[in-house]
Amino acid sequence: MSVAVVTGAAGLVGSAAARHFAARGMHVVGVDNCMRETFFGADGSVRPNLVKLERDLGTAYTHCQVDVRDRGTLDRIFQRYGADVTVVVHAAAQPSHNWAGEDPRTDFDINAVGTLNVLDNARLHCPDAVVIHCSSSTVYGDHVNSLPFVERESRWDLPPEHPYYEGTPETAPIDHTKHTLFGVSKLSADVMAQEFGRYYGLRTAVLRSGLVCGPELAATMQHGMPGFVLRSLMEGRPYVIKGFGGKQVRDALHTSDLLAAFDAVIADPRPGEAYNLGGSRANSCSVLEVIALAQDITGLEMQVSFAQGQREGDRRWWITNNRKFMEHFPHWRLGTSLRQILVEIHEANADRWTR
Ligand SMILES: NC(=O)c1ccc[n+]([C@@H]2O[C@H](COP(=O)([O-])OP(=O)(O)OC[C@H]3O[C@@H](n4cnc5c(N)ncnc54)[C@H](O)[C@@H]3O)[C@@H](O)[C@H]2O)c1
Repeated sequence: MSVAVVTGAAGLVGSAAARHFAARGMHVVGVDNCMRETFFGADGSVRPNLVKLERDLGTAYTHCQVDVRDRGTLDRIFQRYGADVTVVVHAAAQPSHNWAGEDPRTDFDINAVGTLNVLDNARLHCPDAVVIHCSSSTVYGDHVNSLPFVERESRWDLPPEHPYYEGTPETAPIDHTKHTLFGVSKLSADVMAQEFGRYYGLRTAVLRSGLVCGPELAATMQHGMPGFVLRSLMEGRPYVIKGFGGKQVRDALHTSDLLAAFDAVIADPRPGEAYNLGGSRANSCSVLEVIALAQDITGLEMQVSFAQGQREGDRRWWITNNRKFMEHFPHWRLGTSLRQILVEIHEANADRWTR
């Protein structure tokens, strides 16, 4: 039977991928040590997600409570399934800028060295598998902050004639910019995944996203802005905006659109390619705009305050340009709007996130 190995299987992207491949008749082997609660505490725990995943997928799913830093155990997992593994999705990560700044060694070991461990196992034990590495727009650092932004009523934006207006392309520089320690560990992993494609011919694909959203995310202040805005509103917690007057822009991609991109890559892999893949201008939003949308959807009012300063390496604006991905995979389309994303997160958590 064809096997999909999914690291970070209890998290947002990993659990969605596990469900997706199981629904296609594959056996899914999930690797996740539930370390998200170490990063963010009980609020950020993925254990409830894992319980649901194991219950829903039954025998189609095997969970390995394993750390991607643990080379020996990871080797044995890949050895056991060998060439039956046709897809590897690497979604395990330490996902927070702040946390990485507190403990850069652990962050680098998980994000960079953990990625090397996964890639090398794929090379040794399932060299024909398609290996999708979940990268991040943070690989570009804060270079975009030097662009000529205009302050609009609810967001910072570029003038329509600017070459990046429709989003930042892959040709954007990655040097001479502040990445944060997290950005550096993700960039190292990203380049390593590209290199395994170019050097060894492994069928790797690197997908760099802005914000990925879905109801499964254990949203916390440090990770998952739209989800955390909704969560704060629904739980009646005040929301503290830090930096850029709340007008900083992000773009949101629903996990279903990311999974459709995985399918496109699996059907026609191009070893070593790196792509920006995000919500694009269509799903772009500032923090203020997400708050307004969340209030509209829930009918609740948010208590908002502004903190001094801004986060190290934070960006005033990020919109993804999907052009390269859409040229290589012309059937892929953005399918879920920002409003739909928020409505879904709201509905899925209505019983859990209460005042
Ligand atoms: N969610 C986003 O907005 C977003 C945006 C861009 C890129 N990404 C990338 O996509 C990937 C998945 O992100 P996500 O949103 O699903 O994050 P998530 O935090 O929901 O999931 C990550 C999972 O990895 C697990 N994990 C952490 N350290 C581990 C370790 N040492 N060994 C094994 N498992 C470990 C966690 O327990 C968690 O379940 C990450 O690489 C992330 O950087 C996410």
